[in-house]
Amino acid sequence: MKTGLETLILPAGEAGAEAAARILARGGLVAFPTETVYGLGADAGNAAAIAHLYAAKGRPAFNPLIAHVADLAAARRIGRLDACASSLAEAFWPGPLTLVVPKTDNCPVADLATAGLDTVAIRIPAHPVAQAILRAFGGAVVAPSANLSGHVSPTLAAHVESDLAGRIDLIVDGGPVTVGVESTIVGCLNAPMLLRPGGLSRERIEAVLGARLARPPVEADSDDSQPLAPGMMASHYAPRANVRLNAQDVAPGEALLAFGPARLPGVDAAAAVMNLSPTGDLDEAAANLFGYLRALDARRPRAIAVMAIPEDDLGEAINDRLRRAAVAR
Ligand code: TXA
Ligand code: MG
Repeated sequence: MKTGLETLILPAGEAGAEAAARILARGGLVAFPTETVYGLGADAGNAAAIAHLYAAKGRPAFNPLIAHVADLAAARRIGRLDACASSLAEAFWPGPLTLVVPKTDNCPVADLATAGLDTVAIRIPAHPVAQAILRAFGGAVVAPSANLSGHVSPTLAAHVESDLAGRIDLIVDGGPVTVGVESTIVGCLNAPMLLRPGGLSRERIEAVLGARLARPPVEADSDDSQPLAPGMMASHYAPRANVRLNAQDVAPGEALLAFGPARLPGVDAAAAVMNLSPTGDLDEAAANLFGYLRALDARRPRAIAVMAIPEDDLGEAINDRLRRAAVAR
C-alpha cells in the first residue's frame, strides 16, 4: 500500500490536465471530475498502476473497473459494440452511460482491470476536465469512483481528499459535479440489460432502444455470489450512520434527509436536516445525494431518516443507492 504519498491538488486547467497525463503515464493515480462523480484514474494498460489503485481504495480485486476514453474510435479499440450498443453510444456518449461489451481481440485494458472477464465496461465522460485529461494522456484510463471502498462516492474534490489524501498522487479540482450519481451501466451482450441504474434514466434509454431494459436475473447485490455487476454489493454506498428509508416522522436525535416540500412530524427535534430538493426535482436531488449523506453523517446522528422519493427518472438510481446505504451492517 502506497500511504504517506504527498497528494498534490491542482485546479482544473491546462496545467492540471498535463500534470495528470504525466502522472498517469508513469503509473501514478489521479483523481479527476466526471459529470457523474469524481473518478480515481490509472493507466488502463498498466497492471502495476491498477494494483496500486485497488490498494489505494481498499477495493476487492474481483470488482472490475470502467475504462474511460475520449471518443468512439478509442472505445471501439477496446470493445465490440453491436447494433444496440452502437445506437446507445450514438445517442448518449459522451455522457453518464457505461456500456458492458465483449473485449476486442487485442484489447489494451489489463486483465486485472476487467477481473479476468471477457467483457469490458466502457464510458466516454462528457465533463470537459475528464475529456482534457483523457486527450492529454492519449490512452484509456480505468477509474472507479474516487472514494475508499464502501464509502459514498465523491461529488467534490474535498470528498476525495478526505478519503484518499496520502494514498494517491494528484487530485484535479474541477468543482462540484453536475449529475451526482454514478453512470447507468447497460450490458450489451445478448438482450440489453440494466446492470446499474444511474445518471441516465431508464426511460431515456428505453426510448432509444424502443424496448424495455431487462434487469439481471439475480439481483446483483450479494457479497458472496459472482454478480453481473460485482460492484453492486449490498452495502456498497454506505455512510457510518444507519439509514432509515421512507420515513414518515423523525425520531429525536435522527438526522433528516428530506425531499420535497412536506414537513415531517418531529422535524424540529432533528439532529440536522438537509433537503435534496425542496421543489421535488429529481435531477437536483441526485446532484445533492452523496454530498448531503456525507454532511449528515459527519454530524454523527443516531440514524439518518430519509423521506420517500419517487421511482421514476433519476429516482430509480437515487433509491438504489439509498437502499444499499440502508442495508444493516
Ligand atoms: O459514474 C461512474 O460510472 C464512475 C465514474 C468515475 O466514471 N465510476 C464508477 O466506477 O462508478 P465504479 O468502479 O465505482 O463502478 C463500476 C461498476 C462496478 O459495479 C463494476 O462491478 C461494474 O461497473 N463493472 C465493470 N466492469 C464490468 C463488466 N465487465 N461486467 C459487469 N460489470 C462491470
Ligand atoms: Mg464506486
